[in-house]
Amino acid sequence: MIKLGVNVDHIATLREARGERYPDPVAWALEAERSGADSITVHLREDRRHIQERDVLALLEMTQTRVNLEMAATPAMIAWALAHPPADCCLVPEKREELTTEGGLDVVSHAERLREVVQTLIQAGIEVSLFIDPLERQIRAAKGCGARVVELHTGRFAEARDRHEREGHLEALRQGAGLAHELGLRVHAGHGLHYHNVMAVAAIAPIVELNIGHAIVSRAVFTGLGEAVGTMKALIRTHSWK
Ligand code: PXP
Repeated sequence: MIKLGVNVDHIATLREARGERYPDPVAWALEAERSGADSITVHLREDRRHIQERDVLALLEMTQTRVNLEMAATPAMIAWALAHPPADCCLVPEKREELTTEGGLDVVSHAERLREVVQTLIQAGIEVSLFIDPLERQIRAAKGCGARVVELHTGRFAEARDRHEREGHLEALRQGAGLAHELGLRVHAGHGLHYHNVMAVAAIAPIVELNIGHAIVSRAVFTGLGEAVGTMKALIRTHSWK
């Protein structure tokens, strides 16, 4: 079945909003694992607006699945990841003023630098994915960098205003996933997925992992985390291509 990575950043967002000790994203992550999460994703942003270094360190010690560390490919973050290697690392673009990760990495324009970063992280035993838009040139460039995994950005699909636009973005995801697979890349997808749109993405062969945060946290406010993770897993299972 397609794996579900649960992103816990938004629990830290709530904590940081008040400068409190609660709610704790680590406790949340452990509960998400008990509820069926296959991995835990956190984005250690340069501005530390939600997840803090101590959260990642605790997750590395306490989780029983995999920690997927999202980060910008900056020298400081690379040094940090090498000092505290997670199982997986997803390289994402970062802009200080953005609300969330708004676009995919421009691998084409930064191919040389990214190749170096990917190799460095892989040599440290970290599985590296590149978060990219489902564009042929970006997928080929990701392959050229030596990445073994790409995470296709589903944000544009999620934000589509009508059926026509939505179908266009879905087709781009299908084509992108197919090409990445042909090139020998493992295909993940994520961003903006929720309980009403995840089915269409789960149906795309050969996607093997979805990373979802905001929708799960938002639903859990009403239903509790067990139900929120369980229902998402069930939707993915029911509509999965495999
Ligand atoms: N994947 C990546 C690479 C992301 O940056 C994010 C957002 O942090 C997600 C998945 C999860 O997005 P959402 O919170 O919209 O589910």
